[in-house]
Amino acid sequence: MIYFIVQKIKRFRWLLIFVSYIFTLKYRLFKSNRVHFGSNFITNWKLRIQGPGKAILGNNVIAGAHEEPNIFSTFDRDATIEIGDNCRLNGAHFQSRKGIKIGNSCIIGSALLVDTDHHSVRSDRMTNPNSPVLSKPIEIGNNVWIAGHATILKGVTIGNNSVVGFGSVVASDVPQDSIVAGNPAKVIGKVPMVSGTI
Ligand SMILES: CC(C)(COP(=O)(O)OP(=O)(O)OC[C@H]1O[C@@H](n2cnc3c(N)ncnc32)[C@H](O)[C@@H]1OP(=O)(O)O)[C@@H](O)C(=O)NCCC(=O)NCCS
Repeated sequence: MIYFIVQKIKRFRWLLIFVSYIFTLKYRLFKSNRVHFGSNFITNWKLRIQGPGKAILGNNVIAGAHEEPNIFSTFDRDATIEIGDNCRLNGAHFQSRKGIKIGNSCIIGSALLVDTDHHSVRSDRMTNPNSPVLSKPIEIGNNVWIAGHATILKGVTIGNNSVVGFGSVVASDVPQDSIVAGNPAKVIGKVPMVSGTI
């Protein structure tokens, strides 16, 4: 699917890059110290970047959402959401208090990546504003596919080439070249490796 979309996009590439520039103009003009777009960035109007932290997008990223928008939300000045080169985002939602790093050539569907609990697990969470909230960075390797409706929780690392199945909840690390699925996500298979693809 992504392959055919990318082939179609290639035919109208320069027009899409120009239109994307218009869609991202408000970020380029008013948030350039916190938002960086790499070269050839393509998006549609369904892109939201909000919060005090940074969003850094690599070269040749396509973030053209069909249904859900691509949302970059930071909740701390030091939080950084970093997307590697050649990534494809289709309705991805990033919520960061620490840092979320995506490698190169990843496909992220309408999934949620959230590096914080947002609330304390302690019983005084409603009465004590200093009740501790746990947050830990997320790191995704190269050539990873995270399918729709998956959730990646705080502190998770996913190794190169791995696949996260539809609707999975990933609470612990995923080794490289693995297919994981379910809640909590477990390894259900190995990624068939083909030479010359990465
Ligand atoms: C993860 C995925 C790629 C695995 O496909 P696959 O390698 O063909 O795996 P299979 O269908 O043979 O399933 C293997 C086992 O895992 C289970 N499984 C597969 N996907 C699962 C999922 N998303 N959640 C829970 N269990 C899942 C199957 O039930 C099966 O269990 P069993 O061995 O007990 O019968 C596929 O299931 C998936 O989730 N695709 C995403 C589709 C999608 O969202 N596309 C939109 C693009 S972002």
